[in-house]
Amino acid sequence: MDSNSKIWLTGHNGLVGSAIDRKLEAEGYTNIIRSHRDVDLRYYDQVRSFMGHVKPDYVICAAAKVGGIIGNRDYKADIIWDNLMIQTNLIDLAWDFNVKKLLFLGSSCIYPKHAQIPIKEESLLTGPLEPTNDAYAIAKIAGIKMCQSYHEQYGCNFISAMPCNLYGPGDNFHPEKSHVLPGMIRRFHEAKEQNLPTVTCWGDGSPLREFLHVDDLADACVYLMNNYDDPQKIINVGSGIEVSIKELAETIADVVGYKGLIMWDTEKPNGTMRKVMDVSRMKATGWEPTIGLREGIEATYDWFIESQGSIRGIGNTIADKVDDIEDEVQEILNKNKCNGCGDWPV
Ligand SMILES: NC(=O)c1ccc[n+]([C@@H]2O[C@H](COP(=O)([O-])OP(=O)(O)OC[C@H]3O[C@@H](n4cnc5c(N)ncnc54)[C@H](OP(=O)(O)O)[C@@H]3O)[C@@H](O)[C@H]2O)c1
Repeated sequence: MDSNSKIWLTGHNGLVGSAIDRKLEAEGYTNIIRSHRDVDLRYYDQVRSFMGHVKPDYVICAAAKVGGIIGNRDYKADIIWDNLMIQTNLIDLAWDFNVKKLLFLGSSCIYPKHAQIPIKEESLLTGPLEPTNDAYAIAKIAGIKMCQSYHEQYGCNFISAMPCNLYGPGDNFHPEKSHVLPGMIRRFHEAKEQNLPTVTCWGDGSPLREFLHVDDLADACVYLMNNYDDPQKIINVGSGIEVSIKELAETIADVVGYKGLIMWDTEKPNGTMRKVMDVSRMKATGWEPTIGLREGIEATYDWFIESQGSIRGIGNTIADKVDDIEDEVQEILNKNKCNGCGDWPV
């Protein structure tokens, strides 16, 4: 990409999109196109008209419907429809408007539930998925296959990267919709504020997970846009380092300054015991992350403190209010749905 290339960055307000935005700006890219909700990416006509008007050289797909564990489990219809529509419109129209290169973002949850650890890219489609997030994973897998198919049939340079669990500034701290790391930051922070003697976490703390600071991911995305041209080979982007949930909780408690006890509710499920990706393909391109976990958590907590009032999931942003209203509407609709026939009462 040249510094004046037209780069359409979708989802620039999200966790990943805002980090890519900061990275592109810092690297001197001057022609970044941001659309946010001016274009609802689920609707073909809106995307077509925007793309026809803007004619981007490059497209980065950081827009998606992302639900966290509970969202992916309880809102599967929204998750699969929104993601299929967003990515289908972007990929198909990127081909139609001769976009030079497109980056599609998947996730480590596309891999089978029992994939061999560390998870290699070749594990894709070798076994059943984790049922709680299968709708999200299948949408993402369809996006990967679309990129590969448009490459096979039309020669499009549409590449796909699979990030591990991300965290950092701009994260969602909602008690139910957030991922584990921001969720813990919020809980330990609130426990400190309220002088609570204990914080109880789910399971026994032994499961191992991989985390990447979102600024490292953004660096990787820009790097891939400039250095990686193999749509047939998806590429994992992670730290490749496993950390136990116990270690994570202790680090967060320490960074936050929470002095109480961390208890483990072993009646609650542990979830998958190990989830770490094999990142050797990415390493072989010459890219490696630079932000250590503790350093990244410290920076995220600093941001969390500085940004009170504008953080997603704390209940005081416009996005939160919209989220709450959407949840209420969904609840009312669910309650009114006619049991059995699946129809709505008239
Ligand atoms: N977060 C992680 O740990 C993680 C891990 C692996 C992969 N990823 C991947 O990274 C990508 C971005 O995730 P994220 O965590 O940055 O999610 P996010 O914070 O929820 O951001 C998603 C962005 O997409 C926008 N968006 C959603 N629906 C849209 C629509 N119909 N039209 C236009 N914009 C729309 C959202 O706009 P609003 O602000 O208006 O909602 C938001 O800015 C996703 O593909 C995800 O699968 C994330």
